[in-house]
Amino acid sequence: MGERIPIGSDHAGFELKEKIKARLAEKGFDVDDVGTFSTDSTDYPEYAKKVASLVGAGKTERGILMCGTGLGMSYAANRFSGVRAAVAWTPEIATLARNHNDSNVLVIPARFVAEETALEILDAWLEAEFEGGRHSRRVSKIEIETEEC
Ligand code: RB5
Repeated sequence: MGERIPIGSDHAGFELKEKIKARLAEKGFDVDDVGTFSTDSTDYPEYAKKVASLVGAGKTERGILMCGTGLGMSYAANRFSGVRAAVAWTPEIATLARNHNDSNVLVIPARFVAEETALEILDAWLEAEFEGGRHSRRVSKIEIETEEC
């Protein structure tokens, strides 16, 4: 069985989620669809929390989310310690989100990217590696230490 990867969307991302799921299955991933399961109106934080809690707890290495703009999903997912959810609207941004920011959740703005672009974003993000080095220092500074509060 391939790497388990949780994926979630709200109603705005539902149709794209189905396409992304198919691409992930083709690539051999064990896709864990946390919903939503239709285009009926629903609330994005519910799905962001399901995916981000798995990634934040280290139960899966990475996850994928979609909503209309990508913003609501990223706000909700980034509240989980250890989660770095990146909104990517081009393949180049997806690659840099891995290379420089060690993104572990990909967020796609479903209403603002064509399906073909979304699949290119997915492929770019899955294939890119974190470069480490100076970026490790910067990424480590993202987590808020208790004494800073
Ligand atoms: C739903 O209409 C829309 O608000 C949602 O998908 C997302 O864009 C929120 O950030």
